[in-house]
Amino acid sequence: MCGICSAIGGENKIFEVLNGLKKLEYRGYDSSGIAYFDNGKIKVIKSIGEIKNLEKEIDNSLYSNNVIGHTRWATHGKVSFENAHPHLSQDKRYALVHNGIVENFETLREKLLSDIDFLSQTDTEVLVNLIAKQQGSTLQKLISACSLVEGSFALCLQHEKEQKIYLAKRKSPLMVAKNEHGCMASSDMSVFAGRFETCYIMNDNEFAVMDNKNILFFDKNGKKIEKNAIFIKNCDFCEENNSEKYFMLKEIKEQSLVIKRTFFKYFVENVFLQFDDLKKYKSFHFIACGTAFHSALLGARFIQKFCHKKCEVSVASEFRYDDNVLSKKCLYVFVSQSGETADTIACAEIVANRGFDTMAVTNVPYCSLNNLTKFVLPTFAGKEVAVASTKAYTAQVFTLLILALKISGHNYSQILKNFSNTFEIEKPDENVVNFVSGFKKIFFIGRQQDYVTSLEGALKLKEIAYVNCLGMAGGELKHGTLALVDGQTLVIALSTQFSLKEKMESNIQEVKARGGKILLLSQFEPMVDVDMFVPLAKFEEFLMPIVGIVPLQFLAFAYATKLGLNPDKPRNLAKSVTVE
Ligand code: G6P
Repeated sequence: MCGICSAIGGENKIFEVLNGLKKLEYRGYDSSGIAYFDNGKIKVIKSIGEIKNLEKEIDNSLYSNNVIGHTRWATHGKVSFENAHPHLSQDKRYALVHNGIVENFETLREKLLSDIDFLSQTDTEVLVNLIAKQQGSTLQKLISACSLVEGSFALCLQHEKEQKIYLAKRKSPLMVAKNEHGCMASSDMSVFAGRFETCYIMNDNEFAVMDNKNILFFDKNGKKIEKNAIFIKNCDFCEENNSEKYFMLKEIKEQSLVIKRTFFKYFVENVFLQFDDLKKYKSFHFIACGTAFHSALLGARFIQKFCHKKCEVSVASEFRYDDNVLSKKCLYVFVSQSGETADTIACAEIVANRGFDTMAVTNVPYCSLNNLTKFVLPTFAGKEVAVASTKAYTAQVFTLLILALKISGHNYSQILKNFSNTFEIEKPDENVVNFVSGFKKIFFIGRQQDYVTSLEGALKLKEIAYVNCLGMAGGELKHGTLALVDGQTLVIALSTQFSLKEKMESNIQEVKARGGKILLLSQFEPMVDVDMFVPLAKFEEFLMPIVGIVPLQFLAFAYATKLGLNPDKPRNLAKSVTVE
């Protein structure tokens, strides 16, 4: 993970980089720092925690026209001042910020850098010293050091005597932009929005050199290459205005708008013209991580239900090491909000390199995943800032539903239109919030599609309120977990499928019989005794996963804020997981 941002030009770049880092904070917020030119020397300012702490360390009058910056999600080395980036070479001539992992850093340190006294435990300090040790110009040194590295990197490098910033990329995202005020590099495009009209997206094993006016690109042999600029659309993807106290709240509330926008994109603007090409596949294999894995589970259900085609779903970190038997008749679908998740990308590479057909379902235009796949099915959640995914999830679920319906040829457009026009975001009552936040042991249960909603509801509560909870299939409760149920246990039950209503009621009885408390979410009036009931709006059954998740998102949000936690930046997590 980690976010990197650098700027060079004729004016002060300190605050440009600082503002860029603020936009990249979703990538990690364990520590942050900048390195800048000051009278022929490289100086470094670092701080632990969020960018606002770094901001406090920076004097308003600080000036530099060559700055590199970093916001960290710790991988190698604990969260500490020493491990915060930028890192300097021992001779202090080079400064480096790095997003990625140098997997062979210990070997490099032992074999090639035994004379260096390292100040940190990071792989990045190994890398900057490795660069300093190579021969030739700074570009040649960078290229040769990168050729020794196993792993991933997006890098910004300074040399104290050169008014330049050197860049390198492999597997971690990096893009660059220029205008009359100078050049900028960043881990994502949102940093450029409003300042630059075009940008260049670096590919793996490409290098670049930025100076005050220009950016030159090179391949891994140091040969100059030309790249085409792309337009940075003034799109809602870059928009980050928030009148709510937290982005998560804004994003939960935006979900009805996201549904409307998704309907409009797929049924009015017809943004994807290849649905007919997808009909030939006999099966679908979905691969994803985290929340996207949950939407993939629903996607598979929709395809099975409406298209009667076989589906499989894999967690990306498992799929990449499975002995997979792949099929030409199968479409491999990679679901990812960011399109930058390392495990998901690795799986897409495995499948694409073996010549099988792939599709990305992503929320970020120009992300790495889109470059790897044959088809790209975009989601239209707009930029999601809070680490825990909410609106990107509902956008994925609705888009995958549309995918299934379009492939099946069913004409459900009127139903979807009606849903997009009438679906409202409703907050659960305060007494429900108070009730739930009184429990420390919580299980979420549901069957079939509600099982998936249970998994996602539990994930939200774990992620942002740090409650040790579990989502599970209602029928599985009696096979072990029921042993944990007592008077201090809350079971949040979902029941949105009429055919399974009685089965869920039996599960509820099992919990009640053991003294457990029940919160039921359903569009049906309960026929059994429950402690709390949240009525859900009534829509077609296949739309209920979208309706059902919203109160669970609100409950997780409310639980976290009641504890005084910042739901946008949960501890130990980051939004975009670009390391394995
Ligand atoms: C991280 C985020 C999750 C997200 C997961 C997958 O763990 O905190 O919210 O679901 O990565 O991310 P992706 O961008 O691939 O959907």
